[in-house]
Amino acid sequence: MPPAVAVIERAKPDDANQVEAPVTVKAYLMCAFAAFGGILFGYDIGYINGITGMQYFIQEFGNGNVTAGKKSLIVSILSLGTFLGALVAGDLADWFGRRTTVIAGCLVFALGAALQDASSAYGLLIAGRFVAGLGVGFISAIIILYMSEIAPRKVRGAIVGCYQFCITIGIMLASLVTYGTQHLNTSASYRVPIAIQFVWALILGLGLAFLPETPRYFIKQGKIDEAAKSLARLRGQPQDSAFIVVELAEIVANHEYEMQIVPQTGYLSTWLSCFKGGLRNSSSPLRRTILGTSLQMFQQFTGVNFIFYYSTTFFALLNLGVDPFLLSLVTTLVNVFSTPISFWTVEHFGRRPLLIYGALGMAISQFIVAIAGTAAGTNKSVIKVEISFVVIFIFFFASTWGPGAWIVIGEIFSLPIRSRGVALSTASNWLWNFVIAIVTPYMVGENEANLREKVFFIWGSMCFACMVYAYLLVPETKGLTLEQVDRMLEESSPRTSSKWRPGMNDFYSVRKQSENTAANATGHELEDMSANKNTV
Ligand code: BGC
Repeated sequence: MPPAVAVIERAKPDDANQVEAPVTVKAYLMCAFAAFGGILFGYDIGYINGITGMQYFIQEFGNGNVTAGKKSLIVSILSLGTFLGALVAGDLADWFGRRTTVIAGCLVFALGAALQDASSAYGLLIAGRFVAGLGVGFISAIIILYMSEIAPRKVRGAIVGCYQFCITIGIMLASLVTYGTQHLNTSASYRVPIAIQFVWALILGLGLAFLPETPRYFIKQGKIDEAAKSLARLRGQPQDSAFIVVELAEIVANHEYEMQIVPQTGYLSTWLSCFKGGLRNSSSPLRRTILGTSLQMFQQFTGVNFIFYYSTTFFALLNLGVDPFLLSLVTTLVNVFSTPISFWTVEHFGRRPLLIYGALGMAISQFIVAIAGTAAGTNKSVIKVEISFVVIFIFFFASTWGPGAWIVIGEIFSLPIRSRGVALSTASNWLWNFVIAIVTPYMVGENEANLREKVFFIWGSMCFACMVYAYLLVPETKGLTLEQVDRMLEESSPRTSSKWRPGMNDFYSVRKQSENTAANATGHELEDMSANKNTV
């Protein structure tokens, strides 16, 4: 009997809701450590906001004037590198493992940071940001995959939410560091913030070396024993415990089933698999890929990075007489402290309500900023109202769309296309991040379109579109194993998904399918899994 069939045979679940072991503190901590990757991501977004506003930096890199063109390239080149890094990362994660890819990302990132720190001219700085971006691309795409694949389903949303929390902490740390070094009249003003990035890469790389690879990666490679070992370690249970046997069986059965629907025969076909199936079928790979990439696009369309990339410049423009660095710091603090709210709401209310109402809250706040600014943008009290609503906008983002978009992309892809699907979605986040970073200086620059607060009319309308989008297209994945999410997508539409409940049928129908495969095709597909481990 092929090993995969034997694994499925051994499992005798009497309740589909008991697929997973109870969550132990150790399991929780192991999963949460990976979230540290968010620090790197956030710090990189954050420190550039601060250093491009520093007098010393402007003097050294722009001869007293960092033009809109230069500024947009310095900020956005990282996102371009990250976009490319995220695309490649999906392949690497399937070939070498999720964990190894993240560790490689730390090394590439450290190289990029070294180049930036060595630079005192524009060219090297740009090159360094691009290389660091490649590393962040590996890390940001694969950490989500890693975390979603190892986390117990009951806390998966909260655990992936921790990743967003770390992103916000990274942005805040960058703000604090640049706030502290901004007045230094030496190159240390920007070199210190850049050098601190090594610490994050070191902690993440070393820490991950001690964590296990994901069981789902091993299943995809046909290494069932390794998968069992990893799962047992992650769940804090002996390998032969009923919990491990059942959870492993579900992962294997589901993978088998998905491989029957979307067989993958070579390198190109594994990529093409992401685009198979019809547009009207909400469980088709194509629909999942569109969902993941568009969700990340809409997350960027909320305009959040307008604040995190350019708030120092924007607040200076409002001319309230309060240090713009300090105001930016406030936005980053609110970003940090509002994120943990989502740990509870995402598991209690679910992903859909979070995204729908979060977008509504953001749209309202942004329209208030736009209207107040356009009507009386020079009045000091009105400016205070504007700044308050910018902060409220950040509150809504941080407690909803910030974590929500990452949580959902980790959950909607079936195993055969998961690594590439998550990578494509993350790449989409960075692509739109790049586009926004490029165009923003032209929208608000005093010598350019000079939209000032009116720019919030654009972001507010986008947030309204985010709300409609979430209502029509985002499914509810709360409380389901990744395998049950697959069934749910097949059996319900996004709008009916929150009512879908896992039943015994899913597991047994999958099991039946595998038995048939084994009987009809003498299990060749299962054996192929082991033999052709490097082709998928
Ligand atoms: C977004 C970033 C953003 C950050 C702010 C993340 O989820 O992808 O682009 O800067 O949240 O906290």
